[in-house]
Amino acid sequence: MIDSALHDRAGRRVTLRPVDDDNWRAVADVAPRDDQRAWVAALAARYLVLTMRSDVWTSLAVYADETVVGHVMWGVDDDGSRWIGGMVIDAAEQDRGVGRAAVRTLADWLATQGGPIRLSYHPDNVPAAALYTSLGFQPTGAMEDDELVAELTPA
Ligand SMILES: CC(C)(COP(=O)(O)OP(=O)(O)OC[C@H]1O[C@@H](n2cnc3c(N)ncnc32)[C@H](O)[C@@H]1OP(=O)(O)O)[C@@H](O)C(=O)NCCC(=O)NCCS
Repeated sequence: MIDSALHDRAGRRVTLRPVDDDNWRAVADVAPRDDQRAWVAALAARYLVLTMRSDVWTSLAVYADETVVGHVMWGVDDDGSRWIGGMVIDAAEQDRGVGRAAVRTLADWLATQGGPIRLSYHPDNVPAAALYTSLGFQPTGAMEDDELVAELTPA
């Protein structure tokens, strides 16, 4: 379990846990809002398949207390940089502070491994841009497909 002792606005403790025999169905069912499907997969199940087929990515379940509320994945690039991807908080659980706590928790943990921490987001994805920028991610100028690459700049 990855736990930075962070909470959402309802006071639920946000943790990141491996996807396992007990929680994989709940993780697979995590879904964004319909209007967010332009930016992310329609179901987190797509990211679970990706991580099963990939040597690079590892999926994690996002928990609020003991409830699965989202999916996120991390990976290591050839240059040693750490990447965050597949960040989806279930539509019914958004705007409660879970996404902020989840990204901070994963970034804190990846920071202990060394190397820059990067992610990418579509320029039109205003909530994601606001979240990542407020956490210290700054666009590098690079693009990954049609997404802006941003890197965490230590405070
Ligand atoms: C982006 C996402 C992960 C944020 O998760 P969340 O749990 O709703 O976010 P939080 O409640 O922790 O809010 C964190 C910040 O996000 C931003 N944010 C969230 N919803 C927003 C909205 N509707 N408009 C603008 N900014 C918004 C704000 O900066 C907010 O800051 P605050 O803590 O001061 O309120 C979530 O909206 C989501 O899953 N979206 C669909 C998938 C997606 O786009 N993932 C990112 C791919 S790069």
